[in-house]
Amino acid sequence: MIRKATKEDLSIITEIEKYSFESSDRFSSRVIRYHIKKEKTFVITKDGTVIGYMILVYYKSNIRIYSIAILPQFRKKGYGTKLILHALDIAKKMHKKYLSLEVNVHNKRAIALYETIGFIKQCRIQKYYHGKVDAYKMHRFVKNGNIG
Ligand SMILES: CC(C)(COP(=O)(O)OP(=O)(O)OC[C@H]1O[C@@H](n2cnc3c(N)ncnc32)[C@H](O)[C@@H]1OP(=O)(O)O)[C@@H](O)C(=O)NCCC(=O)NCCS
Repeated sequence: MIRKATKEDLSIITEIEKYSFESSDRFSSRVIRYHIKKEKTFVITKDGTVIGYMILVYYKSNIRIYSIAILPQFRKKGYGTKLILHALDIAKKMHKKYLSLEVNVHNKRAIALYETIGFIKQCRIQKYYHGKVDAYKMHRFVKNGNIG
């Protein structure tokens, strides 16, 4: 099940982040709390327990997947895909044109997953992470995948 995150989810989201990102790439609790308040943070649950989350940011024409992670033991089971398809659904309902995201160029698993879902690399952003590591900016049009 996917639902909006509440402030009670703050500690589990922080925990999932710890298992998913290098310390320098994690958001502070304050930042996560801010996004939960904005009601654009979603959690995915299994048997009532939160196993993953996704933070979205809404723009005029697009929705940006700002952060997404699944607890390691629940990866490769389709939950990440479910969260992204949920974002796509929101984008459709809000008549946005596309979904966008930035991904570390070394994060092969995430890039492969995004490409499977129809994202394409738009450009490479030099030194996006801490002025050191490059990112790909990727997007997926809401209508007709890449073609629309
Ligand atoms: C990136 C991330 C969110 C993906 O979540 P996930 O739940 O593992 O994603 P899915 O299970 O939907 O898809 C992952 C792969 O498993 C495969 N898969 C999905 N269901 C499967 C199943 N039942 N059996 C076997 N494989 C399966 C998918 O085809 C996909 O393969 P691909 O990598 O070759 O495209 C997760 O790996 C993660 O939390 N990583 C650390 C944080 C991170 O890097 N976030 C992204 C920052 S931009």
